[in-house]
Amino acid sequence: MSARSVADWLDPRLDLAAALANREARPAAGGLSLGIDLGTSDVVSMLVDADARPVAVCLDWADVVRDGIVWDFFGAVKIVREQLEKLSAWVGDALPGRAATSFPPGTDPRISVNVIEAAGLEVADVIDEPSSVAALLRLDRAAVVDIGGGTTGIAVVDRGKVAYSGDEPTGGHHVSLALAGHRRISLDEAESVKRDERNARRREEIWPIVRPVFEKMAAIVEEHLRGPARQYAVDTLYLSGGSCAMPGVLELFARVFDGMRVILPRHPLYLTPLAIAAHGLPHGEGA
Ligand SMILES: Nc1ncnc2c1ncn2[C@@H]1O[C@H](COP(=O)(O)OP(=O)(O)OP(=O)(O)O)[C@@H](O)[C@H]1O
Ligand SMILES: [Mg+2]
Repeated sequence: MSARSVADWLDPRLDLAAALANREARPAAGGLSLGIDLGTSDVVSMLVDADARPVAVCLDWADVVRDGIVWDFFGAVKIVREQLEKLSAWVGDALPGRAATSFPPGTDPRISVNVIEAAGLEVADVIDEPSSVAALLRLDRAAVVDIGGGTTGIAVVDRGKVAYSGDEPTGGHHVSLALAGHRRISLDEAESVKRDERNARRREEIWPIVRPVFEKMAAIVEEHLRGPARQYAVDTLYLSGGSCAMPGVLELFARVFDGMRVILPRHPLYLTPLAIAAHGLPHGEGA
């Protein structure tokens, strides 16, 4: 089975996720699947239809997960409960009582499971993050690079399974720190300047300030792919995670990984949440 097209299959779904974030659900018929992604920067609950198209998305920026563990358990449960209330108000009885969730490779899956159960849901499925992306896109052999809030994760998928993974502590938080330090502004202000996609010129201006942080991330990925993961001879790299939305990231990675195919989906912030939600579909739209 060949990989799914990013332009034709994935991007329209990610556009839909971005358009629906924290807005009312769109009308949809039939069985919905719920996925919950607990990240270092945010908690995302996504409902998808049988065709893996987003129906509703709740996103809260939150500081409940650090270093791959839920350090604010009650805060995490509270956010998930509030998101469920919103989803329930939007879709009523169509809200499933079970959810799929995920964990970064090398961490304990029980951590996310405990939060989901404490929020009153049954856990439909739990899968590591890059495997969910590999399943969603039907990847056979590729590297999935997830640059989230706290870390850069590298996973090598071989014959559809994660064969190698690594996680290093440089992520979007460090991008914001570099910007805050340079501009002498607060970390919160740096976060919102960085994420403000409406102001393209200002984001272009900050690229030279934050580029060294992304260069470090690319160097980390390079060390893994050209070092311990060399045997897999990866020739395609998928960029995922909210930090990859920064203009300049694709060009930087394409330059460093010259000769490889480097793919950046639109709205990479929603790729893992979409993959998790799709993984919970009865016939595994993601499988
Ligand atoms: N439009 C944007 N431009 C640049 N950075 C962005 C944008 N949107 C989100 N980010 C950054 O992406 C990061 C969050 O991405 P993501 O949700 O993938 O991480 P996470 O899953 O919470 O973290 P981790 O995977 O490390 O646990 C944050 O650092 C945030 O500032
Ligand atoms: Mg993440």
